[in-house]
Amino acid sequence: MKFVDDFVPYEQISNFSELALKLELDLEISWLPEYLNISAWSENIPIAFWLTKILKPNTFVELGTHYAVSYMSFCQAVSKLSLSTNCFAVDTWKGDSQAGYYDSKVFDIVNKYNKLHYTHFSKLLRKTFDEARLDFEKNSIDLLHIDGLHTYDAVKHDYETWIDTLSDKGVILFHDINVINDEQNFGVWKFWQELRDSFPSFTLPIGPGLGILGVGKRFPSPLQFLFSAKGNEARNIQSIFGSNGLLIKSINDLILTKQREEKLLNSFAWKIFKSLRAIGRLPSRFFSKKQQ
Ligand SMILES: C[S@@+](CC[C@H](N)C(=O)[O-])C[C@H]1O[C@@H](n2cnc3c(N)ncnc32)[C@H](O)[C@@H]1O
Repeated sequence: MKFVDDFVPYEQISNFSELALKLELDLEISWLPEYLNISAWSENIPIAFWLTKILKPNTFVELGTHYAVSYMSFCQAVSKLSLSTNCFAVDTWKGDSQAGYYDSKVFDIVNKYNKLHYTHFSKLLRKTFDEARLDFEKNSIDLLHIDGLHTYDAVKHDYETWIDTLSDKGVILFHDINVINDEQNFGVWKFWQELRDSFPSFTLPIGPGLGILGVGKRFPSPLQFLFSAKGNEARNIQSIFGSNGLLIKSINDLILTKQREEKLLNSFAWKIFKSLRAIGRLPSRFFSKKQQ
């Protein structure tokens, strides 16, 4: 497997406060996920929190949920920010040729967590993407996350089938835009390269990578700023979200390794997680000082 672009975390972002103001970045940059599990998505959680805050979607739909690491991060932001977003996760919960095929235990885990925390605004649709398309009207979705099968043909099909459901502030997220893996026939990177200049867009090339595509006509100004960022400015923004994303990925890897070794989340991993949570809260001092 190769990456299209390498993520380079900067030691210092010179114009952090200027960027933070333009992005209306606040304490969500220091949040840690309340739900983690097996996934290649954990690096994107900080930008998912921020995007949910800025876009305030009325309807969020995810195509491809698996253990729901991405989905639960959007739900966490909706809940924490008391937004009135309706969230829908679509998956057969059977797997595919790239994610692997799995049994119903995965759905049971996701369903249990969803019922416990987010049932009042979140629904799991256990069906194919094409079947679920019939459940949504045209122009009704503000935020769509496409993360199903990652072949060129599959992602193009998902995009073409769902594009007319996007509202006039619609944003589509594509996962795995940074992965070149010919053996497994990954093609999202190619589709993203064809598509990204046709609309306002932003590329987060951290790990598997996330593409943010603005297919609507009116966006909140922080999102317009994100779409307009080029060169060093864009790299600094990638660095802000990406560095925190790497921290979250490390925590996830650590917890999963520990779980695998000992078959439970033992107290050692949990203590490290809690310490890193405390470190993660440090930026709050920066913001509270600024507000004084
Ligand atoms: C890459 S995984 C999703 C990863 C997840 N977003 C995360 O945070 O880790 C892809 C999922 O899409 C589902 N899937 C693929 N094609 C599908 C289709 N046409 N209809 C329904 N589910 C599909 C698979 O069952 C699999 O669980």
